[in-house]
Amino acid sequence: MNFYVMTLFPDMIMNGLNTSITGRAMENGIIKLEAVNIRDYTNDKHKHVDDYPYGGGAGMVMQPQPVYDCYNNIIKKINEGTPGDIEGENSEKNEDAGGKPRVIFLTPTGKTFNQQMARELAAEENLVFLCGHYEGIDQRVLDMIVTDNVSIGDYVLTGGELPAMVMIDAISRHIKGVLNNDISAETESFTDNLLEYPQYTRPEEFMGVKVPEVLLSGHHANIERWRRNQSLIRTHQARPDMFERVELDKKDRKFLMENNIKYGKG
Ligand code: ADE
Repeated sequence: MNFYVMTLFPDMIMNGLNTSITGRAMENGIIKLEAVNIRDYTNDKHKHVDDYPYGGGAGMVMQPQPVYDCYNNIIKKINEGTPGDIEGENSEKNEDAGGKPRVIFLTPTGKTFNQQMARELAAEENLVFLCGHYEGIDQRVLDMIVTDNVSIGDYVLTGGELPAMVMIDAISRHIKGVLNNDISAETESFTDNLLEYPQYTRPEEFMGVKVPEVLLSGHHANIERWRRNQSLIRTHQARPDMFERVELDKKDRKFLMENNIKYGKG
């Protein structure tokens, strides 16, 4: 997977992702990341990339020209198969008829990002992220290049860089070879509309608090049942909206009834 990020702050992107699991995936060549500085593409002699909004109002708006030229340069790179073209295969998997990649504009007005989107986007060969700053980006260039408007939640950040990093991290976890243990992306929170159960490790007793007995029993079926019950309780408490969508089986319903937890049809 090749990630390209169009930004005014490329160091923020590179520094934010070059450690830990995403950093290792880059070292191993499983993912490639290039943060492209939009300012490098401005035709303005003072290197300005923004101007006052037509119609008045507070703040500045990013101009279309540097964004458009930056985008074209990325498309050129992708078509030439550099730098992200892993082992020379310039696959057009999931890209549109013209071989154009999806271009994700990070904006609080977009569709809210979630785990399902992360899974879907992980199937792309190339992804381009566009990070805005100031009061936004001229709508004309957005209409020309953006395929997806995405928000990471109902709050306003100072720019699209943190949302782009959040998305790249969440997407990368679904790419084969990024996690040590591929199973953990399957059994984690949000799979089957359930939040993950609590985890424990050594010591068996910490400050007088013991690890739940069942986890030491070696009885796999009981452990699995206990974990499922914990997931049900957690999801019911923290995410009642998700809990309504859980597919409950007979044992789930029995557990919920015994614990006075109301459930719908399930
Ligand atoms: N830019 C500013 N706030 C944002 C948000 N919540 N999601 C995506 N991009 C943003």
